[in-house]
Amino acid sequence: MEHLTDEAAMDLAVAAALEGVRGANPLVGAVLTAPDGQLLAVGRHRGAGTLHAEADALAAWAALRETDPQAAAVDPAACTLHVTLEPCDHTGRTGPCTGAVRAAGIGRLVYAVADPTGTSGGGAQTLRAAGLDVSGPTGHAGSLALTDRWRRARAAGRPFVTAHLAQSLDGCAAAADGTSQWITSPASRAHAHAVRGRVDAIVVGTGTVLADDPRLTARDDDGSLASVQPVPVVMGHRRIPAGAALRGHPALAAGEEPLHVRSHDPAEVLAAIAAHPGPWPHGRGGCEHLLIEGGPTVLAAWIAADLVDELHVYTAPTFLGAGLPAVSGLAVDTLAHAVRWTPDSAEGGPVRPLGPDTWTHLRPATAAGKE
Ligand SMILES: NC(=O)c1ccc[n+]([C@@H]2O[C@H](COP(=O)([O-])OP(=O)(O)OC[C@H]3O[C@@H](n4cnc5c(N)ncnc54)[C@H](OP(=O)(O)O)[C@@H]3O)[C@@H](O)[C@H]2O)c1
Repeated sequence: MEHLTDEAAMDLAVAAALEGVRGANPLVGAVLTAPDGQLLAVGRHRGAGTLHAEADALAAWAALRETDPQAAAVDPAACTLHVTLEPCDHTGRTGPCTGAVRAAGIGRLVYAVADPTGTSGGGAQTLRAAGLDVSGPTGHAGSLALTDRWRRARAAGRPFVTAHLAQSLDGCAAAADGTSQWITSPASRAHAHAVRGRVDAIVVGTGTVLADDPRLTARDDDGSLASVQPVPVVMGHRRIPAGAALRGHPALAAGEEPLHVRSHDPAEVLAAIAAHPGPWPHGRGGCEHLLIEGGPTVLAAWIAADLVDELHVYTAPTFLGAGLPAVSGLAVDTLAHAVRWTPDSAEGGPVRPLGPDTWTHLRPATAAGKE
C-alpha cells in the first residue's frame, strides 16, 4: 500500500494533470490521502465542461467507498486533498469545487498555486472560513511549471496560444517552389485537425493564404466538417483574394468578411481578436485558445514576441533541400541568443510517432527557467 508525503502526493497530482491536453483551461490534478498518507484517489481535469480535478478525485473515492469497506471506513474529516491549483469558488459549467470539497466533508486541503483568475479565485479563503485546515499556496515546483504559461496568458488577459509547425527533417516548411501540401502524413494532419477543433481561432499570414489557399476548418478523419469550428484570422497587409477558400468558412455568416488584421504585430492581432464580437465556439464569450498555423514569417513574429505558450512540431522523414525554413526571420545571430524550448510532458509525453512522422510537443524554456 502506498503512503505519501504531502510533496509526493502533489507530485502524483502533477503526473495526473499531465495526462490532459493544454488549452483554455489549466491542467489540474488532485490526490486524496488518508491521515497516514495512504493513497485514496487520484483525479484530474479532463477538459472544458467536465468535472474539475478535485471533484474528479472525490467522485473516484465515492465510487471506491461503494465497493471497498476499508475505504468506506475512512473518516473524510481526517483526509487531505492535495490540489495543484487553488480550488475554484464559482459556478461555471460545473459547480464550485469549494462546494464539492465541503460536501465530501474533507478536513484538510493542501494547494500548490493560487488561482490568478478574478472569477475562480478565493477558494482557499472560502474553505478556511468553513473550518478546513488549509495550507497553500505551497509553491510546489512541478505545479508551478504545470500552469506557468497558462497563468501568464491569464495575467495578460490574452488567450492561451498554441503554434503549429509541419516540417521536413531538414527544417523546411515548404519546398523551394513554395509547395507544402502535404509534407506530413494523414496521421499528422488528423492530429492537427483535432487541435483545430479544440481552439477558438486560427491565425495565418497573408503569405499562407496566397500560397496554400487553406480552408482553416476543423475536419474529422473522413474529411467531413467537425461540429465545432474555429474562427479564421488573417494577418498581413495584402488582400485576401475574392475566391479564397476561407471566405466560405462555416464560422462566417453569409457575406461576412473574415477577420483580417492588416498588421505585422501580434499584439494588434490579439487586440482585434479581443474586440471581435464572435460568435465564439465552445460556448465561450471570447477567444481563450488561439492556434498560430504559420507560415514561417508569422510563426517567427509570435515566437519573437514570446506569445507562443506551446509548440506542436510535426516532422516528416523527408528532405526538402533548398526549401523554405520552417521559422523565418527570428533574430538569432549567435548561439547565446538561441530561442530554446523544453519538452512538454502533457498529452501523454513530448514525443510520439504519428504514422511515419514524429510529433514533438514543446513549451518555452524561458518560462520553465523563470519558475
Ligand atoms: N509547413 C507548414 O506548417 C506551413 C504552414 C503555413 C505555410 N506554409 C508555407 O509557407 C509558405 C509561405 O510563407 P510565408 O512566410 O510567406 O507565410 P506567412 O507567414 O503566412 O505570411 C507572411 C506574410 O504575412 C505578412 N506578415 C504578417 N505578419 C508579419 C510579420 N510579423 N512580419 C513580416 N510579415 C508579416 C507579410 O505579408 P504582407 O505583405 O501581406 O503584409 C508576409 O509576407 C508557403 O509556401 C506555405 O505553403 C507552411
